[in-house]
Amino acid sequence: MNFQLTEEQVAVQMAARDFARNELLPGVIERDEHQKFPAEQIQKLGELGFMGMMVDPKYGGSGMDTISYVLAMEEISKIDASVSVCMSVNNSLVCWGLEKYGNEDQKQKYLVELATGKKIGAFLLSEPEAGSDATSQRTTAEDMGDYYLLNGTKNWITNGNSASYYLVIAQTYPEKGHKGINALIVEKNSPGVTVGAKENKLGIRGSDTHSIMFQDVKVPKANRIGDDGFGFTFAMKVLAGGRIGIAAQALGIASGAYELALKYSKERKAFGTEISNHQAIAFKLADMATEVEAARLLCLKSAWTKDQGLDYTLSASMAKLYASDIAQRVTSEAIQIHGGYGYVKEFHVERLMRDAKITQIYEGTSEVQRIVISRTVLKG
Ligand code: CAA
Repeated sequence: MNFQLTEEQVAVQMAARDFARNELLPGVIERDEHQKFPAEQIQKLGELGFMGMMVDPKYGGSGMDTISYVLAMEEISKIDASVSVCMSVNNSLVCWGLEKYGNEDQKQKYLVELATGKKIGAFLLSEPEAGSDATSQRTTAEDMGDYYLLNGTKNWITNGNSASYYLVIAQTYPEKGHKGINALIVEKNSPGVTVGAKENKLGIRGSDTHSIMFQDVKVPKANRIGDDGFGFTFAMKVLAGGRIGIAAQALGIASGAYELALKYSKERKAFGTEISNHQAIAFKLADMATEVEAARLLCLKSAWTKDQGLDYTLSASMAKLYASDIAQRVTSEAIQIHGGYGYVKEFHVERLMRDAKITQIYEGTSEVQRIVISRTVLKG
């Protein structure tokens, strides 16, 4: 077993680290405070090749492996999880889904712009009454011959306003349950598409989360991904990869908080010495370091599994479940080590704790990950 990263992977990690420190750290507190979407930063990420990291260069991507994607996601998430969620949705849900299951025309028309970061994509599955229970889609895509008529509402959509292209999951044959669902590429500027108000969130406040309403939107048949009725399988396949991205985001939030706490503990003095010399603090740091490393290994193992062409559904859910849980603990302990300073915005750890919570919710709650994991292990 070789745990050594390649030179290319280290180069990607360093590039992402430099970008996060130089381009994301300045202004991150203000963007969080004012819920400002990081448009400029996302554009620069695209120019660096981070918006279509795993896409074949012939479609405008960077042709990197999933391990590089995890390394980059960790570095970006250490500083700004509002940027990394936009990056993750575009890379693993939208670009990967289109490259793997889209046809050549769809790739030329949509993937190239998305992979180069010229346009942003969003993935529309959740509804007011279909979150974890994803088969219960109420949004309908009625078959009208050469087009679908789309009606319904989607909730909690990351990149809801900034995206130009939506991948929409909708029900065509209600009587067929999950086998009657389709995945459609919908252009945001189509007549009948309305973007709701931006959600005022606890964390990842810079990211733009909206409801999207569809009223009699005509979507050409040519924009259906895969065969008729493939939509639910498409969503599940895409989400498995997305969970590696969110696991890496949770890892980055945790490792960012741990690194800040470690640094602070060597600077701050109490009872005549640096607080890192007190065992109460040193032992906290020992636990945090161990948890971060275990989460990192789960993320990299899942990425490696995907890169080998093996089934990564189980490892992705394990990585997401564990990394998002430890992100809660590590960010909370980072505040504890900072004491009162940790509770104010200037020291960053309070934002990381707020950002950590969503990683237990989106792209499948921790409960959904436990469903996926328990079903697989019980099958033997
Ligand atoms: N790959 C391929 N097929 C799969 C699959 C997978 N990973 N998982 C399930 N399926 C198939 C099943 O085989 C089954 O097909 P058959 O009947 O033909 O065998 C079908 O899909 C239905 O599966 P289940 O019976 O297991 O479905 P279920 O209703 O019990 O639910 C679930 C399973 C795991 C809970 C699923 O609904 C789920 O993952 N829910 C969470 C949805 C989610 O992650 N939402 C996130 C929204 S996107 C987001 O957050 C993005 C963002 O903005 C950041």
